[in-house]
Parts: sequence; C-alpha cells; structure tokens
Amino acid sequence: MGEFSFYFPVRVKFGVGLWENLGEEALKFGRRFLLVTGKRHLKDSGILEKIKGSFNNYQCDLFIYDKVPPEPPYYSVDEGAEIVENNNIDTVIGIGGGSVLDVAKAIAVKCKLPNSIWNYIGADKVPKKGVPCILVPTTAGTGSEVTRVSVLINPETKEKLSVASDYLYPNLAIVDPYLTLSLPPNYTAYSGIDAFIHALESFLSLNNNLLTEAISLKAIKLIYNYLPRVYKNGESIDLRKKVLYASTFSGIALTLTGLGAIHALAHPIGVYRNLPHGLSTALITLPVLEYNLEILSREKLILLGRTLGIFSLRSAQEKIIKKIKDLFDSLDIKLGLRDYGIKYEDLPLLAKEGLKSRSIKTNPREIKEEILLNLLQRAW
Ligand SMILES: [Fe+2]
Repeated sequence: MGEFSFYFPVRVKFGVGLWENLGEEALKFGRRFLLVTGKRHLKDSGILEKIKGSFNNYQCDLFIYDKVPPEPPYYSVDEGAEIVENNNIDTVIGIGGGSVLDVAKAIAVKCKLPNSIWNYIGADKVPKKGVPCILVPTTAGTGSEVTRVSVLINPETKEKLSVASDYLYPNLAIVDPYLTLSLPPNYTAYSGIDAFIHALESFLSLNNNLLTEAISLKAIKLIYNYLPRVYKNGESIDLRKKVLYASTFSGIALTLTGLGAIHALAHPIGVYRNLPHGLSTALITLPVLEYNLEILSREKLILLGRTLGIFSLRSAQEKIIKKIKDLFDSLDIKLGLRDYGIKYEDLPLLAKEGLKSRSIKTNPREIKEEILLNLLQRAW
C-alpha cells in the first residue's frame, strides 16, 4: 500500500509568448524538421506563417504535413512517417489540437518501424525510440503534449484505439496560452471538459497515488472554477492560462494512472456519430460517475467534494454529480445520447466496442459488457 513508481521524461516549458522561440528550441534537436499540423486552424489564424518565418532565421529545412483531420485515421501517421523517411527528417514538431499532437508523436516513432502504425495498437508494443519530437498544443484539453498515448481511428473497422509507449513521450512540450486564444467558445468548452474528465478519471483510477492525486485535484479545481469564465471570456489570457495549466496537469496525471469507463465509452460514441471528443465524454460522464462514486472511499469522497466546494459528507455523491451537471449546463452542453443521432438499438454495439478499451482496466469499479450497456442506456 502506498507504493508507486514515477517516470515522466518530458521537458515542459510553460509561458505566454514561448511559441515564438520554437525555431531556436527546435535547433537543439536537429536541422531537418517535419511540422505536423491540422488543415485549417493554424493557417486561418496566421500563426503558421509566423512559425515558418521564425525558422527562416536559421539554416534548416522545414517540411510541412498539414493533412491531419479532427479524428485522425491511423494512415495519417503512416503518410507522415513516409515523408520523414524519404526526406531524412531528424525531428518531428506537432502544433495543434489533440489529434495533431497524437499523430505527430506517432509519426516520430513510426518512421523507424516496419508496417503500419495500426500494428502497434496496445500498450508497450513499440519496440524502440524514434526521432526527437516537440509538441505545441493549441487547445487546452487533451494534455497530449505530455502523454505516452496516441489515439487513432481505423475508419474501416470504426475502431478508436490507442498506441501507448514510453517512446511516445515527446522530448519537449512548449505550452503557451497565447495559442489557445483563438479557440471558439464551443471548442473551448469541449476541450476543457476533456481535461476535466482526464483529471477526474485519473483521480478515481485504480493506479492513482498520492502524487497523481495532488496533480489531478489541482486540475479539477482549476477547470471547475475557470472553464465557465473562459467560455464567456475567451480573450482573457489570464483565464486561458488557468485552464491550460489544468489540461497539462491532467495530461501528466492521466499518463501515469490511466483513465476509466468514461473514456472507454466516449471513444466509440465519438466515432459512431463523429462528435467532438470532449462532448462525447460529457454525454456519458454522469451515469459512469454515479456508478463509480458508489464505491469511492470516504476519504476520497471528502477530497473530491472539497475540491468542488462541498464540505459535508451527507449525500456527497449526489452533490458531486449535481456540481458536474451544473458545470455542463454553464457550458451549454445538452446531455442525452438520443439528441445526437444515437439510436437505442445501437447501444449494445457501443458497449461491445467500449469493452476493448484499456481504460476499462483502471476503472475503479468492475466493468462488464452488460454494465457498459446499462450506463449507455442511462445516458441515452
Ligand atoms: Fe480525453
């Protein structure tokens, strides 16, 4: 009891305006770069041009792979890795939301491996390290810039699964609140909820320990207090900073502890109706939490309650659920799977898919297929 191991090899640089040093930072790792990004956001905001400009001051080559879609298929990784191999690229840089970061870190290992990245789905299947990787998030949500996980889609089988390996940790994460300023309110809400649920599931995870518990509770508190304010006031860099701290903290916590049944179900829900990941997590959160809180220790219930401003143990479970429901309401998140085109008769399929997720293993309470089905029915 109380034993734990801690391995976290990412240098994290957090601060406003740090993104302008990207060129200089990248040169510590190599001279031939592949910059991985999404199709639009960085271009529309003019940030991509500025970043390219920042590399012009140095003797180096910058290749761009800007085809990463929101729910990234595994072959985006294979395509990007081919560019790395064909052009002797020595460093991969990912700038964008969670999808971009997940693809970038996977490209950095895939370029040294035979076969498609889909062959490495699962935990610790990647046999060796790849090329150096720098990640720069533009959303406050996934925490992917500090995790050992890359979540990918297989469009043929409609699976959303992850590659997890210590080799996926980036060498450097540059976390700059400035880059999150242009995120629109709905995506600010979805990504913030994702970070909130990362912290919550990490706190409840079977693998949590005193250290990760402290990190996740700090993240829960920051998001609970500040996300509704950022949602209404997205141009405030100080508010953006608070939520970005939280998403990076949640990323560190989740990568050390794993997640739970909310994420196990959010993935098939998201793939099935093409919903933003943070929204999919919100849709299934309350039933899963009700189920998990029933067996939560008194000590942890007090800790979680206090973090959300609840100071009495009487009906603490219901009060916690109510607080989280209120958080979703304040972000205009409408709950109910039925309102997002999900049919009642499709729930068994989603339960079956959810059971494949590794997050099931760290859920604090036992999960079986029929339990997942019941939780989905309650969320419907
Ligand atoms: Fe997530």
